[in-house]
Amino acid sequence: MSFFVPGKNVSQFSSKNGLDIVLRYPKWEDLQPLWLYMNTLSREDTFLALSGESLDIQSQAEWLAGRFVQMEMRNSVVLLAMQGEDVIGVCNIDRNFNNRSRGLHVANFGISLASAYRSQGIGHFFARQSILEAKQKLNDITRIQLTLFSQNQIAYKLYQKLGFKICGQNPEALLYRGNFQDEILMSLKI
Ligand SMILES: CC(C)(COP(=O)(O)OP(=O)(O)OC[C@H]1O[C@@H](n2cnc3c(N)ncnc32)[C@H](O)[C@@H]1OP(=O)(O)O)[C@@H](O)C(=O)NCCC(=O)NCCS
Repeated sequence: MSFFVPGKNVSQFSSKNGLDIVLRYPKWEDLQPLWLYMNTLSREDTFLALSGESLDIQSQAEWLAGRFVQMEMRNSVVLLAMQGEDVIGVCNIDRNFNNRSRGLHVANFGISLASAYRSQGIGHFFARQSILEAKQKLNDITRIQLTLFSQNQIAYKLYQKLGFKICGQNPEALLYRGNFQDEILMSLKI
């Protein structure tokens, strides 16, 4: 049976500076705010795959529709962090299909917050709740893996706090603002 109810609240929390943050499943009406959110992140050119390119709304719609399908199939958990009506963060944990049936017990993790909401404990709470949700909702997942830029110290500290361990390093695999950085692979047994 499906667990996915569009727009359903999963958790809420007060950030270190007293903001009320709600974590909830996405709904179709989130398309436009999500699209604006992703474009803002891309313009920021931070430690994410997006590096300034503008995303069209069709590709955002296809991404969202695809996540809805995968949530129905228990292959994905996507949560939005909301402050009031504003999307301030996205966390997704997606079953890894890259190794066909040999890698289906592994899920890939991704998280971002809008710049104004960072370093207030939101990322830690958001990531922890998303992992709990994935543990409950994605059948037969035993590991969550992620990659990060070697200079992304905040993300590294966050993942260490969550129990992720470094399990690989790909030298100079990522171009960041004109310089190559190593790509670090981390994994968490759940
Ligand atoms: C990475 C990210 C999700 C972390 O979320 P966050 O809300 O900023 O992080 P938190 O406030 O929960 O902090 C987690 C830990 O990181 C460290 N940290 C956070 N802010 C820090 C800062 N400004 N300086 C140094 N360390 C910091 C601390 O160790 C903190 O734990 P503590 O509060 O118990 O000391 C967020 O910063 C972000 O979206 N960054 C841009 C996108 C990105 O890098 N995504 C991850 C890609 S792999």
